[in-house]
Amino acid sequence: MTTSSSVEPHLFVIFGATGDLMFRKLLPSLFHLGRDGFLSESCSLLGVSRTRNLDDAGFRAKIQSALEEEGLPAEDIARFRTDRCYYHPMGEGTAGDFASISARIEKLEQQLGFPGNRIFYLALPPGAFPATITGLGEAGLNRSKGWTRLVVEKPFGRDLESALTLNATVHRYFDETQIFRIDHYLGKETVQNLLAFRFGNALFEPLWNRDRIERVQILVAEDLGVGHRAGYYDRAGAVRDMIQNHLTQLLTLTAMEVPAAFMAKEIRDEKVKVLKCISAIEPANVVLGQYTAGRVDGRTIPGYLDEPDIPKSSTTETFVAMKIIIDNWRWQGVPFYLITGKRLPRRETRIMVTFRRPPVSIFEPYDRCEIHSNTLAVLMQPNEGFDLSFEVKSPGKGVTLQTQRMRFRYDETFGPLRDAYETLLLDVIRNDQTQFVRADEVEAAWKLYTPLLGRTNTIHPYPAGTWGPEEARVYLHGAFHTWDSEQKSEESSPTSTR
Ligand code: BG6
Repeated sequence: MTTSSSVEPHLFVIFGATGDLMFRKLLPSLFHLGRDGFLSESCSLLGVSRTRNLDDAGFRAKIQSALEEEGLPAEDIARFRTDRCYYHPMGEGTAGDFASISARIEKLEQQLGFPGNRIFYLALPPGAFPATITGLGEAGLNRSKGWTRLVVEKPFGRDLESALTLNATVHRYFDETQIFRIDHYLGKETVQNLLAFRFGNALFEPLWNRDRIERVQILVAEDLGVGHRAGYYDRAGAVRDMIQNHLTQLLTLTAMEVPAAFMAKEIRDEKVKVLKCISAIEPANVVLGQYTAGRVDGRTIPGYLDEPDIPKSSTTETFVAMKIIIDNWRWQGVPFYLITGKRLPRRETRIMVTFRRPPVSIFEPYDRCEIHSNTLAVLMQPNEGFDLSFEVKSPGKGVTLQTQRMRFRYDETFGPLRDAYETLLLDVIRNDQTQFVRADEVEAAWKLYTPLLGRTNTIHPYPAGTWGPEEARVYLHGAFHTWDSEQKSEESSPTSTR
């Protein structure tokens, strides 16, 4: 557990401090870190935003009521040091405004006795990144007496060209070692554990290749729709919003080679190598969909086109299924299926590895003796854990085979897991870039998906509350496993263990 004594004193400056991300993710995470004692002595927060009529007292009151609304324990809220939180209005973002932010930072550092260590967190809409980065750089806020780190939220660019431009802007002022590009999936314990699972156990690594694995499926299913983010989402769509970042991270961590060391550079080098080996994605290997009205969890849900602020003529995809081919010695010929969608029957993130079946079945002459593939399910949310399926003989009854699962669940062993943002904020504070996306990685990912963005693929409708369009099911045929540990809704999902 990190405590104040293991953290260098620093000022945590959040741009977009009155926004959704601040109150939904950053504040609760800082609160939990603060509860462990670190915010009180080593860190103070400076909120910056366009909201004009707000001062330190008003900002502290907002924080207080946001924490109460979160339903956090009153005694913990009482201990949270809101007196370490300050506010500065951003103005219009002119050079003068950045100079005034700079002056405020210096004044606070003097008052707090801080050595000039600063974290700038851009919790802003993507359109505001270039101007804010330039503003910081031109005001000289890219350097200080201590260290300076810059945290940039996703999406990092809209396509290859914009990502290159944004990287160029960032690099004009900041060194790559100062930059933390967020993909919050990398902060999830179960995602981080993929590396421990793969490289801390000798059991699976010899099987982790084209000789033993038939296919890999990476599913990020959401029951939610676009919520209040229609404006952003309709311009993004599922390829930009989920595939280019979250699913691609899961893909590279699953497919990468053993890094030379468990260090940021070595791990990120291996992830980039995977991206460089992926063949151009054929449009024929991509199925896109958009949800229509339906029912999720017993509730009637409007279709995407009837969601508030979505244009009636929108052709934005809310579902994607695609096949990725990694052309290297380990994976040649093994399809990796990436599947994600909004308004699917339930929230579930899972990597399913399907092993090859025995080349010959000696049980075939008997009834009920079809041999299923062994599968390894890495369950990332909810019910985080692993399931390994294997065949057993049912007792009695002559020769009958049955699939059984060995299961491990995090919460049963370790209790509730930490939120991804908490982990990532700590990593920024500790200067560990392992779980952040490097410039060449983000560019390699965009290079892969940008050709699809100008695509002419048909958008297939699917009713909310189903597992995507029929076309995806036909295309993926046996590859679409959707069972979960409890098999709660197995009947409603397109299951296959073959
Ligand atoms: C975000 C996307 O990055 O990830 C959202 O913009 C999506 O559209 C969310 O809902 C999913 O994150 P999680 O952690 O809930 O799986």
